[in-house]
Amino acid sequence: MNKETILTGITTTGTPHLGNYVGAIRPAIMASRNPNVSSFYFLADYHALIKNREPERLKQSSLEIAATWLALGLDTNTSIFYRQSDIPEILELTWILTCMTAKGLMNRAHAYKAAVADNESNGSKDPDHGITMGLFNYPILMAADILMFKAAKVPVGKDQIQHIEMTRDIAARFNHYYGDHFVLPNAVTDENTAILSGLDGRKMSKSYDNTIPLFEPEKKLRKLIMKIKTNSQEPGEPKDPETSTLFEIYRAFATKEETEAMRKQYEDGIAWGEMKQLLFEYINAQLSEPRERYNELIKTPEFIEKVLQEGAEKAREVSTPFLGEIRKAIGFQAIGS
Ligand code: TRP
Repeated sequence: MNKETILTGITTTGTPHLGNYVGAIRPAIMASRNPNVSSFYFLADYHALIKNREPERLKQSSLEIAATWLALGLDTNTSIFYRQSDIPEILELTWILTCMTAKGLMNRAHAYKAAVADNESNGSKDPDHGITMGLFNYPILMAADILMFKAAKVPVGKDQIQHIEMTRDIAARFNHYYGDHFVLPNAVTDENTAILSGLDGRKMSKSYDNTIPLFEPEKKLRKLIMKIKTNSQEPGEPKDPETSTLFEIYRAFATKEETEAMRKQYEDGIAWGEMKQLLFEYINAQLSEPRERYNELIKTPEFIEKVLQEGAEKAREVSTPFLGEIRKAIGFQAIGS
């Protein structure tokens, strides 16, 4: 039986937070434990370059994100764990796909559109002010990540669904011209957890500076949870769980039964202060063991580097021959053959 491939990446632009964990890392690690699945997980450092011009930060983020995957129990014997920039074939494929991609499709990418909209609302004369080709081409690089390893399933946050659809478009166009080489991927999102809100109630994201880092020391974790925005309802007043960031985060960690019980506590008017304390204790209990492992791993960067090198080797065992097939398909062949 052909195993189904599942693949996801995390951009190395900061310290991993609760949103990365529940939206991508946790489902990916769970999926990797299924023996009928082959899994590819990577540090998206080519993507990080789009927003990050600080070499030290980029490097530190790669270390932290790699240590996070390992601390949370990713088994690198059964899954392929690598750094995107160790796989040069991805860049060559990016160019090939770039030549298959309608510019109009990229004009519609939401990250690019948001940047243009920002410029317009700031009254900038140039709608493309400050926008690099990296940002514009971002979805094509992501398509290369996915298509290179024939991923059928891609666990991502909801904001990434558009990119998976674009990947399908690009792959279908290539297949139409050159034959069936690429597998069309599907996004996998989880209704309960796909996007977590942050401290201020907007999506938890490095870009909004509203994240709760996953392995913050206990005291700081508590402090951050205490900062999460609530409304001004008094203790005893029934509260709406659906509009509560505290509830949303709780639900992302708790079982179904626990979530239902918490819903009841909201109806009964649990005080915000009490809810915050509960949430802290609940999350802390789940994170304290991996946090210890993380703190150990961070001290052994050479070990992490070795794991990534081994992962790159395994990934290239797939990417090198596959890129060869693609090169042949497009006519990059020895002349006279
Ligand atoms: N763009 C993704 C994000 O910001 C990260 C990413 C890069 C990715 N390449 C990918 C995710 C390929 C899934 C598959 O979250």
